[in-house]
Parts: sequence; structure tokens; C-alpha cells
Amino acid sequence: MTTSTTTRCDDPVVLNQWYPVCSEQEVAEAAVYTRLLGADVECTVDADGVPTVRDGDDTLPVRRRYGFVWTTLGTPEKDVFTIDEADEADRRYVPCGWMTLRSSPGRVVENFLDMAHFPFVHTGILGGEAATEVARYTWEIRRETDEVWATDCTFFQPQMSAASEGSFAHLTYRVPNPYQVMLYRISPADPTRLDAIALFVQPIDETVCRAQPVMYLVDPDSSHTELVQFEQVIFLQDRIIVENQRPLLLPLDPRDEIPTRADASSVTYRRWLKAKGLRWGAVPLLPAGTRGADA
Ligand SMILES: [Fe+2]
Repeated sequence: MTTSTTTRCDDPVVLNQWYPVCSEQEVAEAAVYTRLLGADVECTVDADGVPTVRDGDDTLPVRRRYGFVWTTLGTPEKDVFTIDEADEADRRYVPCGWMTLRSSPGRVVENFLDMAHFPFVHTGILGGEAATEVARYTWEIRRETDEVWATDCTFFQPQMSAASEGSFAHLTYRVPNPYQVMLYRISPADPTRLDAIALFVQPIDETVCRAQPVMYLVDPDSSHTELVQFEQVIFLQDRIIVENQRPLLLPLDPRDEIPTRADASSVTYRRWLKAKGLRWGAVPLLPAGTRGADA
């Protein structure tokens, strides 16, 4: 069902990226008709399971990564981002299912980066109201890879994962391109290794997207169902928050919201997008001097 009234994306910052449009499992079962950046796209597979993605009469580039079909409406400079943990044979691979969110992809990524909401949104799981402080952490834009990273994040979590009890989580966040995001966490099951949790985002229109958490975990004990259900509970809580943020488009003007120390990831993310000149999915920037003092 197509209900959007928005038009096709014409923003090269967004066009020249790879996006997941379906899982390989979905498309193996039936053709997938979906939308990407305001365009209707169709994904099919041949008898050998090789996928094709079409935008009208055009055949789009395709990559098969992490159990998903990725495509682009532009000409990306880089390939689909690398998740090293995906190559480790003993990892649990846990795709958690698509969820549609009525908000912009930037809002979804920003929420994923935000630790300050843990005690209030994921109470008793990823945070508790007795420990709400976000400890100081380090954020940076890595020029050599053009990615945003937040490192040395710690937060007390009453129930960090499906199998663990309360302890301090050690987290690293990564934004490999404008509308994809990842989290690495010291594994509760093996402190010498990192769990990798990606949020694959398919921007449909400027204020609608699909997103799917995909986890590569070191967890020999939990059942697959337990791992999926744990993440789905978290994600449903996030959806309520994200869909109620206003404006739905991501503000990039620093005057629009007052940052706090806990928002360092968000501030860095927005600054990075603004420097790229990103327009699609963001609040339009007004020329300097055109806003009133109380705007
Ligand atoms: Fe959350």
C-alpha cells in the first residue's frame, strides 16, 4: 500500500548510499514490492537465488550482505559498510524483523545513539531510574573513513541482554553512513569480545522508514526466540518515542534544540550531516539572518 505524498529523493548525499530493501529470505519466498527514498522498487530472485532490484525500467546495483539485499539509487563512493563480526563462525546471527516507523531515518538513527533515554524508556532493562546519569564519553568524526563514532560509553543496565543480569554496559556506537547505525558492546557472555548490533534502515519516504535490528552475538545459552523477543521489546519501546518526536524531520540547525553533554553523539551526528549538505529527511535550513531571535 502506498500512502505517501512525497516525491522521489533528489539529494545526492542520500542517493549515493547503499540501503537494505529486503532480506534474502523474504525475496526467496516471493517478489518484494517496496519503496526506497520515495521510489517504488521491486526485488526478485532468479532460479539460483540471485536477486535483481528494479526501479521502473531501470535495474539497480545490488549487493548481498548480512542476509539482506542492498541497493542504491545513486552512485556510492564506498561499498556496503563492513561488519567484521559477521565473518566469525561462532557468532549467533539474529535478524529481529522489520518494523515500520513513522518518522525520519535521521530521527531513528539519533534515537539509537542516545543513551540518556535508557532509564526512562527501557526501564528495568537497559536502564533504571536509580542510575540515570550518562557518564562522559568520547565522540568523533573519523575523517579517514567518514564515519561517526562514540567510544568509551558506559551505562548501568539492569538486564543488558537476554541472558545477563545487571551490570555496567560498555558501549561503542558507529554511524557508517548517514542512515545506518551500529552498536558494539562488551559481550556479557565473554568480556574479551564485542557483540555487534546493527540497525539496518530502509528510508521509504522522508518521514517513514523500515528498520531491522540485526545482531551478531556471543551468546551460547539463549534460544533464538529469546534473543529476538528481547530486542523486539526494546525496539517497540523505541518506536513509541521516535514517532512522538517533533518535528519528524531531523533538525540540523544547532539553534533548534539545546544540546546537553549526554547529547554529544546527537550533536556530532547532526553536525556531520549538516557539513555534508544533507537535505532529504532533515528540516530545511534557513539562510543565516532569516530567523527571528525567538525562532
Ligand atoms: Fe532505545
